[in-house]
Amino acid sequence: MNYCKASLLDLLAIEQLEKDCFPTEAFNRRLIKNLLINTKSFIIKATEPTGEIIGNIIGIIKKENSTSLGRIFSLCVLDDHRKNGIATSLVQHLEEEFYVRGIKKIRLEVSTHNNIARIFYERQGYQATTTIFRDYYHDGTAAMVMRKDLS
Ligand SMILES: CC(C)(COP(=O)(O)OP(=O)(O)OC[C@H]1O[C@@H](n2cnc3c(N)ncnc32)[C@H](O)[C@@H]1OP(=O)(O)O)[C@@H](O)C(=O)NCCC(=O)NCCS
Repeated sequence: MNYCKASLLDLLAIEQLEKDCFPTEAFNRRLIKNLLINTKSFIIKATEPTGEIIGNIIGIIKKENSTSLGRIFSLCVLDDHRKNGIATSLVQHLEEEFYVRGIKKIRLEVSTHNNIARIFYERQGYQATTTIFRDYYHDGTAAMVMRKDLS
């Protein structure tokens, strides 16, 4: 498996991946394009030797109270390739990218109904906070905030 930053050449493949993983919440092409060209965001892709992109993670840097904070905006791996450690590797690559950019704190939102993702993030050292965003997703479900400090 190869892990590297995606470019505009990957736009359509990433759009399809997002649709496959998030049928009701997929990011549209315009948003993905912005994430690919903006210097404050990046997408890391997991690619098979055939060239097929089978997973990705999206990171964004934002300012909060004059501190730069890393945010995991999206993470997905195609169904057939799950439970092989691919998401774990994607998170490690994202954390390295944040670290070299001087980001020491990472935050993410995850659906309160998505137990698999919550368990996954806990295993990566992310801790649940008490912050809940109601009506966060299109289907009305809430999101919980998790965070991790990089050492
Ligand atoms: C969550 C997701 C990214 C995990 O990807 P993955 O490549 O299968 O994850 P990994 O193989 O790296 O799993 C690492 C650990 O997470 C936990 N985990 C992952 N999938 C799990 C599952 N189905 N059930 C229980 N625990 C699970 C396990 O502790 C696992 O370690 P183990 O294999 O040693 O038991 C993947 O299931 C996915 O894409 N889901 C749909 C999209 C989504 O929910 N994204 C996250 C919210 S934005």
